[in-house]
Amino acid sequence: MTVVPYKEERAGKKEQVAKMFDNISHRYDFLNHFLSLGIDKGWRKKAIKCLQPIQPKTILDVATGTGDFAIQALSLKPNKITGIDISEGMLAVGRKKIASQKLDNLVELKSGDSENIPFAENNFDAVTVAFGVRNFENLEKGLSEIYRVIKPGGMVVVLEFSRPRSFPFRQIYSFYFKFILPKIGRFISSDKAAYTYLPESVEAFPDGDAFLDRLKNAGFKNTKCKTLTFGVSSIYSGTK
Ligand SMILES: C[S@@+](CC[C@H](N)C(=O)[O-])C[C@H]1O[C@@H](n2cnc3c(N)ncnc32)[C@H](O)[C@@H]1O
Repeated sequence: MTVVPYKEERAGKKEQVAKMFDNISHRYDFLNHFLSLGIDKGWRKKAIKCLQPIQPKTILDVATGTGDFAIQALSLKPNKITGIDISEGMLAVGRKKIASQKLDNLVELKSGDSENIPFAENNFDAVTVAFGVRNFENLEKGLSEIYRVIKPGGMVVVLEFSRPRSFPFRQIYSFYFKFILPKIGRFISSDKAAYTYLPESVEAFPDGDAFLDRLKNAGFKNTKCKTLTFGVSSIYSGTK
């Protein structure tokens, strides 16, 4: 069954996800760093480092949100990074941040759907996605679109939550993720569902080998998975 943020509503997952991120966009960056105790910054750094060997000059950051992963990718010294997202609210916060850091000449954020990427095939040296794939309505379509726009020899890097497996970390983390985090998230973001949707969507998402299978099905080769912080997150990569 598809996990959606607002269970009582009839709209499809994509529409609900866009609405949810519009709702929480003003608090998203703060909550991200606060709820992860700042650990997400290190995860982003590690994920982007996977692209160092291919030194990408053109990068597409899919589900870019407020642009943090795109900004992190600047450490690779590309010529240009384009970010796309379906939430105008998230893009607006991201554009402000990019302008205030005077990065407009390097990073451009545009409205765009991962399941119908508004670029021609074989366009980018690399595609990055952080905490985005879990939110796609149609994961298979999203991954095949990502594959389509990457140049032959280019790479995809995906950073996503996964499920810790080892005792007792799994039990402690699960308590935090299911009971504490939703309460803090709801209080600070004022969205009743967003931080309940987060653990529910992680629970339902194919992680580890199951996600590598999805990448392979989309056409990627040399697929790899590296777990972070006892498996709370994972970095997945693949080559076209
Ligand atoms: C958890 S946020 C991640 C934002 C950013 N990548 C980061 O690392 O902070 C997930 C983002 O995925 C976007 N998203 C979900 N489905 C999408 C789709 N089909 N196409 C583009 N963006 C999508 C949401 O609007 C949201 O901004």
